[in-house]
Amino acid sequence: MWSRAGWGIRFSSPIGVWQAEHVDLPHVEAQLDTSQTLFTETQIRDRLEEMAREIETDYEGRELLLVGVLKGAVMVMADLSRALNRHLEIDWMAVSSYGSGTSSSGVVRILKDLDTDIMGRHVLIVEDIIDTGLTLSWLVTNLRSRGPASVEIATLLRKPDAIQNEVDVRYVGFDIPNAFVVGYGLDYSEKYRNLRCIGTLAPHVYS
Ligand code: PRP
Repeated sequence: MWSRAGWGIRFSSPIGVWQAEHVDLPHVEAQLDTSQTLFTETQIRDRLEEMAREIETDYEGRELLLVGVLKGAVMVMADLSRALNRHLEIDWMAVSSYGSGTSSSGVVRILKDLDTDIMGRHVLIVEDIIDTGLTLSWLVTNLRSRGPASVEIATLLRKPDAIQNEVDVRYVGFDIPNAFVVGYGLDYSEKYRNLRCIGTLAPHVYS
């Protein structure tokens, strides 16, 4: 087993300041151009479980529709929805905000719309990451115009330093530094989505 040692990052999250520990990367991931693991599979799962408990409490007695934003939210949706011990429905939208590079373009367009009429529904948008906030602020406005009972956001990651459009996010897994991250649904040129952990991309990959 290959291991990476001797580093530590501190950054804040809703559950306090999070201290990255020495992490063993699976051999396959070590070879996949990630320079640092920010969150292991276990840490992601544990945080999603905590978020699920909050959501269960907040939506008790109300029907819940999870709306995943393709493609990045696939892993979060799969694990968060299964962590929720209650009935729910799932739908998907695909919107585009990034090019194939490492920063937001600011352009948002619908590539796939919902199959569900959300009039009167309680909608919880499920995202992998909020970066500039452009995508989510646009999406929330769009969905609210359809007459839902409520629209809230759950995101695994948020970059407070990159935000350009303030978005009211109800559930945040981790606040992270303004670095390019991949894995667990997050891509660089469509690669790395299948990593079980989340890590920063080594600069040599995109420079
Ligand atoms: C990512 C992510 C969000 C958006 C956030 O999606 O899933 O939807 O970018 O960025 P923003 O806060 O700067 O708007 P992306 O457009 O990369 O598509 P993908 O999910 O298919 O990778």
